[in-house]
Amino acid sequence: VTPRTPLIAGNWKMNLDHLQAVAFVQKLHWTLKDAKHEDGSVEVAVFPPFTDLRTVQTLLDADKIPFALGAQDISTHDSGAYTGEVSGAFLAKLDNRYVIIGHSERREYHHEGDEIVAAKVQAALKHGLVPVICVGESADDLEKFGASAVPVGQLKAALEGVKADADIVVAYEPVWAIGSGQAATPEQAQDVCAKLRDVIAEKLGEDAAARTRVLYGGSVKAANIASFMREPDVDGALVGGASLVVDEFAAIIRYQK
Ligand code: G3P
Repeated sequence: VTPRTPLIAGNWKMNLDHLQAVAFVQKLHWTLKDAKHEDGSVEVAVFPPFTDLRTVQTLLDADKIPFALGAQDISTHDSGAYTGEVSGAFLAKLDNRYVIIGHSERREYHHEGDEIVAAKVQAALKHGLVPVICVGESADDLEKFGASAVPVGQLKAALEGVKADADIVVAYEPVWAIGSGQAATPEQAQDVCAKLRDVIAEKLGEDAAARTRVLYGGSVKAANIASFMREPDVDGALVGGASLVVDEFAAIIRYQK
């Protein structure tokens, strides 16, 4: 029996406004009635845009829907004159459990380097949020350095200053697999996820490595989820496109090994 509850997380990116979000979450909940997430054997999390968080939180609360809520980004600051930023204090107050940090789209389009990612991890932990730390190599990196060198380096940097008992999640998302329809093979995902677990062991200790969930992300769908979940070091998935389609996301959550 694994001590790590599988986590199936839907990163909506900049999709679904707050009205669409309500319809989506309600439909997903109805579709999943009696599914295993109801008994806690799989954790489901949704990561809506900031403007949806309040609405989705109210719905989850009112209808007792057992999905965890997460944000897609966090400010390194707590409050003050930082136009456009959203602080961890605000996210925590809205019952967010998770926050995605270091997604390749933020690294690429918003020039977030290892230092900012590490500062955001600290901001999340400070406010009691669980950072979902995303790492992954581009197609270029893959060719030049192989699959694991870049994600391993990114994770080492992100874990700088993190305490051994911190609650974190790591997501391996090869950039070439995101939104491309070209997922990594289960063997590739296992290989890198195992190396990332070694980094956790090195930086935070063996206990942390044994209890921390390492997810795979990049073109996950109902047809391939089980093959990833059969790998010993893959503890769940961070799903983009397929998390926006109720039946597809429900089928991913209902995967059978
Ligand atoms: O964060 C999830 C993501 O980047 C993967 O996207 O569309 O390939 O599932 P997708």
